[in-house]
Amino acid sequence: SRSINLAVIPGDGIGQEVVAQGLKVLNAVLPEDVKLETKEYDLGARRWHRTGETLPDAELEALKEHDAILLGAIGDPSVPSGVLERGLLLKLRFAFDHFVNLRPSKLFPNTATPLAGRPEIDFVVVREGTEGPYTGNGGSLRTGTPAEVATEVSVNTAYGVERVVRDAFARAQARPRKKLTLVHKNNVLVFAGHLWKNTFDKVAAEYPDVTTDYLHVDAATIFFVTQPERFDVIVTDNLFGDIITDLAAAVTGGIGLAASGNINPTGAFPSMFEPVHGSAPDIAGQGKADPTATILSVALLLRHLGYEAQAARIEEAVSADLAERDGTARTTDAIGDALAGRVAG
Ligand code: IPM
Ligand code: MN
Repeated sequence: SRSINLAVIPGDGIGQEVVAQGLKVLNAVLPEDVKLETKEYDLGARRWHRTGETLPDAELEALKEHDAILLGAIGDPSVPSGVLERGLLLKLRFAFDHFVNLRPSKLFPNTATPLAGRPEIDFVVVREGTEGPYTGNGGSLRTGTPAEVATEVSVNTAYGVERVVRDAFARAQARPRKKLTLVHKNNVLVFAGHLWKNTFDKVAAEYPDVTTDYLHVDAATIFFVTQPERFDVIVTDNLFGDIITDLAAAVTGGIGLAASGNINPTGAFPSMFEPVHGSAPDIAGQGKADPTATILSVALLLRHLGYEAQAARIEEAVSADLAERDGTARTTDAIGDALAGRVAG
């Protein structure tokens, strides 16, 4: 019989609340013969305050043994900026070589967005997840003086760029529109820009049926607002991908709906699924957070593990639930219950 051995990292702020709803829907959608085992890991701000640890080696090793990881949110105003982001979230993405950060955007029905009523919007950003300016390659000279100099080097390797570009072409080819857009800034960032564009053009020759396009990142932000239907699959570096996926979420229904997967396509390490939003400490513990982004991340998790029918059921349930929303506020728990009810087979 089949089984899923899932690691759960609720993390900080609303992470706890939204992950509980994600697990509720996961339990409801799984067929009886699939055995779900979950193990919760106490990582995040509370752990750091208690022990000073962000992600100890023993836990990193233990996490490796799971089929996948479900993460809520990391970050708290009581912890210095960067400590948990670098020491926990990015450490996981790097250690488990999550080079594909998959962030789909879809215009769901009945959502409060400036783009409501526009043509169908359904694109996916393939954000590189292990390189760029996220590698911590930089430094500071004469720190804190009027002569301070800070560098933050963007690292782009032929190996790292090619593997994510190949993944994006394969994803584009598998979709009906078969279109892939490279987003970069090669008019200014000429060295990295050359590596990305050159690699993109080289791999494109192997995918003659995929239509290709190139946009500078600043122009891409215009089209996200004025013509988002032009996008199918987008491939871009770690930092551009971070920025444009927040914009994509905002214009297609809000950050409360944006799901993501940090994927290691080789299967060498577990992939990790999390909402794009953060820990939202301002509304934590009040039952106000929309768990939909986490529930859609559970759908990405199921698709990654081969449960396509169950993933699609969750996505259809979310569509149906959104279509019936009438503006009345529902609690985190109530939205989870509604979606769990819809997917239960
Ligand atoms: C995200 C977040 C993270 C990122 C932060 C919290 C490190 O903004 O997942 O988009 O920049 O990748
Ligand atoms: Mn972000």
